[in-house]
Amino acid sequence: MLSGMSLEDEGVRGSGERAVAPGPVLGPPQGRGHRSVVRLTREWYVACRSDELEGGEVGNGVAGGGSLPERLGRRSAPLAMTVAGVPLVLFRDGTGRASALLDRCAHRNVPLSLGRVTREGTLECGYHGWRFTGEGRCSAIPGLCSPLEKVYRVHSYATREQDGFVWVCPEPDVIPERDPLRVPALDDSRYEHVVRRVEVRASLHAAIENALDVPHTGYLHRGLFRGGKKNRIRAVVRRYRDRVEAEYLGEPKPPGVVAKILAPHGGGIVRHWDRFFLPGVAQVEYALGEDTHLVVTSFCTPVEDFHTIMFAVVSFRTPLPGALVRRVLEPVARRIFGQDAAILAKQTEAIERFGGEQFVSTEIDVLGPSVWRLLRDAERAEQAASAHQGTPRHTDGGGAAATRGGATRSIADEPVVHAVDLEV
Ligand code: FES
Ligand SMILES: [Fe+2]
Repeated sequence: MLSGMSLEDEGVRGSGERAVAPGPVLGPPQGRGHRSVVRLTREWYVACRSDELEGGEVGNGVAGGGSLPERLGRRSAPLAMTVAGVPLVLFRDGTGRASALLDRCAHRNVPLSLGRVTREGTLECGYHGWRFTGEGRCSAIPGLCSPLEKVYRVHSYATREQDGFVWVCPEPDVIPERDPLRVPALDDSRYEHVVRRVEVRASLHAAIENALDVPHTGYLHRGLFRGGKKNRIRAVVRRYRDRVEAEYLGEPKPPGVVAKILAPHGGGIVRHWDRFFLPGVAQVEYALGEDTHLVVTSFCTPVEDFHTIMFAVVSFRTPLPGALVRRVLEPVARRIFGQDAAILAKQTEAIERFGGEQFVSTEIDVLGPSVWRLLRDAERAEQAASAHQGTPRHTDGGGAAATRGGATRSIADEPVVHAVDLEV
């Protein structure tokens, strides 16, 4: 039977008339279509690691250099990456600067990422060989005998390199005002840093909530992280204009494998903070006694509404040699990230199947609702600023003077504080 038809439609009625059913006969109850998705485009997002663009910053950031055991493998530029729905191509121009262009040749729209970077640092299209500078201006058209008189260009996007990552703003001609968050303890030689790239089929909000969510750890990651005897702890939540933090008090050293590795001698008092920073950073910090300190900073890039890439930097110092800790921790971390990625994909699948979300939250969903409010308010502010400045969201042409977008990272504002008790 074809979908959309019932037995009656197939002629059981016997009248010869065929009624057309209004929609699928069998299917899950459909929601109102709400999805916790925002489109914040006047912000910096990580597009790639610096060393993914050949000849880049080496040895001076966590994602650069040759000492990291977990390398994604060197790639020669150009590199394709979609940020906030915008297909981009990244490469180093003639000056070595990381450049980002719309991944669509001005000539016949072939993706420029299929081309190559010339020795002079222009990006050459793989179809007819048009060449583009880092600013997106066409500098050569092979076979054209007359001089290039018209200006042909593709959109270029602001880039910035910091701490071994290439950051990009997915809105053309906008330089975000909010600076990218720094990787902690980068200049402290006692710390090791490991970078991991995790791709999840989930919205930015769902990915961030997952990274900062405590109650799931004893279930989804049982035995790896938490899941032993329950303890009552208190979360003190501090909400700021551009970030939110939960400080967990009274938490005993977790019984799982991770804690055993990080603090082999017992670990003393546990201090634990979870933080979200606009537009897309989740940070988890643990201090176990005086010797062990671990901060996981996840820079999340929304690729599309339900596709997020997390560039997670694990910064740690422990009494054990860093290389040993890394070797033991690596497979555990991979399993934890894998479990999270799998459950997030299932969550996204269910939301799609039911035609939207129908969430309920309790107070032990400590940060998720606050993260959502921050994202939604930032989106509203960005839309208002965009309308005020009359900046086109995304049109062809380009060449307009760069405008500043977003808000300045504020550290001085007074937080709104509340406390929540929970058992974990
Ligand atoms: S499509 Fe790029 S040069 Fe023709
Ligand atoms: Fe998790």
